[in-house]
Amino acid sequence: MNNSDKIKQAAEILSKAKRIVGFTGAGTSAESGIPPFRGEGGIWNKYDPNSLDIDFYYSHTKDSWRIIREVFYNFFSNKEIKPNPGHEVLAKWEKEGRLSAVITQNIDDLHTVAGNKTVYEFHGNMARFVCTHCGKKFTAKEIQLTENPPRCEDCGGLLKPDFIFFGEGIPENAYYGSINAAENCDAFIIIGTSGQVSPANMIPGIAKRNGAKIIEINMEPSTYTNYITDLYLEGKSGEILPAIDTLIKWC
Ligand code: APR
Repeated sequence: MNNSDKIKQAAEILSKAKRIVGFTGAGTSAESGIPPFRGEGGIWNKYDPNSLDIDFYYSHTKDSWRIIREVFYNFFSNKEIKPNPGHEVLAKWEKEGRLSAVITQNIDDLHTVAGNKTVYEFHGNMARFVCTHCGKKFTAKEIQLTENPPRCEDCGGLLKPDFIFFGEGIPENAYYGSINAAENCDAFIIIGTSGQVSPANMIPGIAKRNGAKIIEINMEPSTYTNYITDLYLEGKSGEILPAIDTLIKWC
């Protein structure tokens, strides 16, 4: 079956679905100009993932912060990063009452910026910082992101980006909210993820076991494709999601 037939089939499946869940990874933001973590141009090809290890952040704060600031904050501040048509379709489907949640591994805030209200940020969000001493939260815009690790204006404690470092636990509301959404959906779309990182990568299996139809959009097969995916569409999510949307007739 060629992609246009698969796009038609995806639209048929989704038109009948009442509770769709989107499960997104870095590939969803690739067309917004944000590099993925793995594969061609991946962040981990250039930087050591250890710089995002929580123990390293506390023990080598200056070194860790220098890389985090370069990879995430300088990169973003030098470009106008905005949602792409794939993000916009997921927000449209939520507005139309058919998409119940987005579960995202991404920390770029783009689903919220696109307008989705129910977003489970499985790996947190780089748009916020939290004080590691008093717990106060700040937006990235409220603090000076200089070469020195950021400090809390209230207590002087070290601030940490509010995304999940390797070695940290998943935020409870995101974890349990994601499981609940996966258990209660009838269509689950895996978008732009290699499925390499646990425990996020176990969420699609929950949807599958609960009878949801699994649609996958990726540039290349992932760990899910020959295992739980019912319908695999190869290509860019920023192109495939709008193509599906034009054929949707909610019933
Ligand atoms: N459209 C669809 N898929 C794409 C696109 C695109 N335009 N561009 C890339 N992809 C796919 C790649 O083929 C790959 O399968 O997106 C996937 C990106 O995989 P990763 O870079 O491994 O990203 P992700 O799966 O989100 O990583 C999970 O790893 O390092 C941690 O915390 C980090 O959240 C991240 C987690």
